[in-house]
Amino acid sequence: MPRDYRRDFKFKQTGGSGKSFFHSVVLMSVRIGILTAGGDCPGLNAVIRAVVRRALVEDAQVFGVRNGWRGLIEDDIVPLTRSSVSGILPRGGTILGTSRTNPFDEASHLERIRLNWEKHELGALIVVGGDGTLRTARDMWREHKYPIVGVPKTIDNDVGGTDFTFGFDTAVSVVTDAIDRLHSTAESHHRVMVVEVMGRHTGWIAAYGGIAGGADVVLVPEHPFRLSRVCDFLRHRADQGNAFSIIVVAENARPVPEENFLSEENSREIYRQGRLGGIGMLVAREIERISGIETRFTQLGYVQRGGSPTAFDRVLATRFGIKAYDMVAASEWGHMAALHGRRVVSFPLDEAVREIKKLSEEIYHVAELFFG
Ligand code: F6P
Repeated sequence: MPRDYRRDFKFKQTGGSGKSFFHSVVLMSVRIGILTAGGDCPGLNAVIRAVVRRALVEDAQVFGVRNGWRGLIEDDIVPLTRSSVSGILPRGGTILGTSRTNPFDEASHLERIRLNWEKHELGALIVVGGDGTLRTARDMWREHKYPIVGVPKTIDNDVGGTDFTFGFDTAVSVVTDAIDRLHSTAESHHRVMVVEVMGRHTGWIAAYGGIAGGADVVLVPEHPFRLSRVCDFLRHRADQGNAFSIIVVAENARPVPEENFLSEENSREIYRQGRLGGIGMLVAREIERISGIETRFTQLGYVQRGGSPTAFDRVLATRFGIKAYDMVAASEWGHMAALHGRRVVSFPLDEAVREIKKLSEEIYHVAELFFG
């Protein structure tokens, strides 16, 4: 039976001493760990900064676990002070580093995590991650009894239980800017431009970026596409005097089986587990072959994930960080911060990781209106 670390957690009510500005709860010298795992995204540093700044108001100390779960396995844990988080709000990436190391990959990982947890006398852990990381956090909390609180992040916006994740707005801004730029060159050369964007399982980035950039066609994994229909539409546009068009393709978009133009080798290459990419180039090639319209291809790739977060993402990430701290103070283990409408709430990880949040039909229909 694993030791229940959640029982070790201590806090006291201050009874409104004025020491804490949101809640009358002060953590008694609690040592809170924070880690960022999985793919990075803009806004991670804003969360780290918010947690540290919130903790500074009280007696709690925050420790940065470097490179995701790997830092807990390898004992790479550093104290975070006000100066360590100074100036990081506008910075992309994560000052803590990240990795896709999973504690459940090897039995020895769990034992080393236990030893390092006790060595650093951690009282709670804030895990900032996407769907996979939050599932691991849920299992570490449920099966291994660690006092864990989650914060959802990903440019893909596919984590369940929250309206938005931070990072998404920044990625959509990058895509929008790219489409604006592609518009002018497409128009000058009377070409079709195919833009491939990230999104792994879902079409959130493609649909939002496509709507914001005024794309003519948006292809998403939730709705397998017919290239014959796309080409008819492009010819129709050309007949009406619009010789250029912009097509946004999500990296995991697929043709309907009856119109599959991908060889088995193509599919293996494009839809690799955990490493997607390449559908845009083949879509562009096929469009040119069928329609006869000159077509070019751009893959935006990691540019979408890098750089400074937008104001929206900075604010959301900061709110999530403060909420996560408050959830630690309230011992709301196995929950994550989530955006519901305008409110940031505490949401059960069990429910959040049950399934990927697919692109909403409403958003898809908005994008679809401009297609044909
Ligand atoms: O962070 C999510 C994501 O950006 C996906 O959209 C993309 O498929 C994937 O990460 C790429 O991640 P990696 O860093 O493993 O190449």
